[in-house]
Amino acid sequence: MRKKIVAGNWKMNKTLSEGLKLVDEIVSSSENNSVLKIIAPPFIHLASIADKLKGKEDFEVAAQNCHQVESGAFTGEVSAEMIASTGAKYIIIGHSERRIYFGENNSLLAQKVLMALANNVIPIFCLGENAADRAANIHLDVVKQQMKESLFNLLPADFSKVIVAYEPVWAIGTGVTATTHQAQGMHNFIRSEINKKYGKMVSEESILLYGGSVNAENAKELFACLDVDGGLIGGASLKAGEFGAIVNSF
Ligand code: 13P
Repeated sequence: MRKKIVAGNWKMNKTLSEGLKLVDEIVSSSENNSVLKIIAPPFIHLASIADKLKGKEDFEVAAQNCHQVESGAFTGEVSAEMIASTGAKYIIIGHSERRIYFGENNSLLAQKVLMALANNVIPIFCLGENAADRAANIHLDVVKQQMKESLFNLLPADFSKVIVAYEPVWAIGTGVTATTHQAQGMHNFIRSEINKKYGKMVSEESILLYGGSVNAENAKELFACLDVDGGLIGGASLKAGEFGAIVNSF
């Protein structure tokens, strides 16, 4: 049985006091205990939020990025080991905003995935095509390449820890969500590629999240898709009522 997950990626939003208040509100509004809720605040709030959520078994904390090496002279960067030391158990890696604005490519992301795993932190690995890729009908190839170059170097035991988040770039922050047909189609493709590489058992256990303009109205039908195990939520994760409604729609 695959775990159901709803993760909130706060991106670069919320001061510390706003974030702590939002967490309290999210805890009260997310009634469905069978869903694992993951909160991904900015680095600087990780320890405080992890402390606040300590003891709540259906809540975890994630970072939004990490550096690809263990430590050293990299001013302004944050290592996976530091993230682990805050109590965070997950790291979002390869978000399209990191790829687009910070030039992160598949091979760099492969290093970040290894670094997270080496520190016992679970990568939530984001992938997905942009609008031009879909228009050119090469979206499956793009996603296949992202998996091949960033994930398929992993040993089966390591790969099986990774969560994959399909986030079509054209759906992020646009209000245009993938249809259930598009989301299920891609998730099914991702699972079948995992099956080819790692076999049926690993592919059937792999947790695949959908992200891109998920809200309280469309979450139910997206989560009902056979291969969609939950969501990675951006804008709607900043409003406790909306995030709670998404969680409760499972
Ligand atoms: P939105 O939900 O705002 O479209 O963002 C999705 C996202 O980027 C989550 O990582």
